[in-house]
Amino acid sequence: MKLDERKSLKVAIHTFGCQMNEYDGEVAAGILGAAGFEIAGEGDADVILMNTCSVREHAEERVFSRLGMLGKVKRTRPELIVGLMGCMVEEHREKLFKRFHQLDLMVGTRNIKELPSLIEEVRRRRQQVARIKQDGISIEYTDLVRRTSKLHAWLPIMTGCDKVCTFCIVPVTRGGEVSMPAREVYREASRLVGEGVKWITLLGQNVNSYRGEGVAFPQLLELLCQIDRLERISFTTSHPSDATEELFQTIARNPKISRRFHLPLQSGSDRILKRMKRLHTYEDYKKKVNRLRELAPDVSLTTDIIVGFSGEAEEDYEATKRALAEVRYDGAYIYKYSVRPTTPAAKLTDDVPYEVKEERNQELLRLQKEIEREKNRSWLGRQVGVFVEGRSPKRSDQLLGRTLQEKKVVFDGAQDLVGTFQTVTLLDIKNETFVGALESVCVP
Ligand code: SAH
Ligand code: F3S
Repeated sequence: MKLDERKSLKVAIHTFGCQMNEYDGEVAAGILGAAGFEIAGEGDADVILMNTCSVREHAEERVFSRLGMLGKVKRTRPELIVGLMGCMVEEHREKLFKRFHQLDLMVGTRNIKELPSLIEEVRRRRQQVARIKQDGISIEYTDLVRRTSKLHAWLPIMTGCDKVCTFCIVPVTRGGEVSMPAREVYREASRLVGEGVKWITLLGQNVNSYRGEGVAFPQLLELLCQIDRLERISFTTSHPSDATEELFQTIARNPKISRRFHLPLQSGSDRILKRMKRLHTYEDYKKKVNRLRELAPDVSLTTDIIVGFSGEAEEDYEATKRALAEVRYDGAYIYKYSVRPTTPAAKLTDDVPYEVKEERNQELLRLQKEIEREKNRSWLGRQVGVFVEGRSPKRSDQLLGRTLQEKKVVFDGAQDLVGTFQTVTLLDIKNETFVGALESVCVP
């Protein structure tokens, strides 16, 4: 295919799932854009790429039902190219070609760079094409990355996971841990800052176990804090058993490090934690939280909870409920357990009925919402530093900022404050967003 012919090809990328996928989607858009493709909405696309997630059954079902729909579209538009990238490719591999004849392309998480030539191959050969490399690191640092924000960037520092939480498919889809060398992370962070980025979120399935050529995660954070004009550093996700005193001290010492700490608990019952192979008890977890809060009292803590895991009896669930009430998180993602094939837990019986999972889920969501409401109210009247991200999506005459705890605040202010840090007083809360008033404008 000649370049001018390719120019007219429109590609739509639909991303499901986690931040790592968002980053991969931005890389794919950048690489395709540089190769002459046009990134477009699904309505008039010649190529539809679904960037997929396998973590829960529901995420996969959404992709399967879209594939079904696209099969119908292809009856009237046979030239439409349908492709998959992301975790479902790693999990199902070429098997999906048999089940979905409408599927033309499967691209592994380590093959994103090859997207332009693979699309070309589908067009040329008119057959199903798969490229799924299994070894090496699946991170692409490239200046082609097409970020959705000018000021904020995702920065993956490692891929895969060496933990064996029995419910989780990530070690299957993303493989074992591989860390980027620290000097490459530093170089990429500096490049991003050179492009105007002020806030970076470091990504990894378990960033606490990062080890890039002998540099551990707290040292990496220290290193990145030294980059001038990099104003804020966030990271996700942490595993409780690898969250150390040294990490907590590093957070407490460095005001550039975000005060939002995401520490998945999964269950408040030791019996269930053991069945999940989480490697910690609730007591271990609580000790760590107490220590973190002692060292950095302004940290806002968020978590992940699974309800209805195999064997979860009423008393186990009650223990999780007590844990939520005791830890008092600033936010919690609460999921119903769904069996993932090939995980160790797939051999256990999925014995909690769906309605019970749903009830437990709803009850915890209500409890958590109440806690968040109370915690947020305690911030009212305080003056806080916010990073001004842009205009409020709901009211264009207002700005949207994020506190160091990553809570959203809207307030009146001029457009030229976007990308700066300002001080606002928190006055009210509407739909979980603070309404603030700008104090005297701080000129950077
Ligand atoms: N360390 C990872 C975890 C990935 S999965 C990270 O970067 O966030 C994200 C969350 O999904 C997990 O913490 C867990 O709460 C939930 N999850 C994983 N597998 C699940 C399953 N089989 N059913 C329901 N929820 C699950
Ligand atoms: Fe999954 Fe546990 Fe790793 S939740 S990503 S196996 S830390």
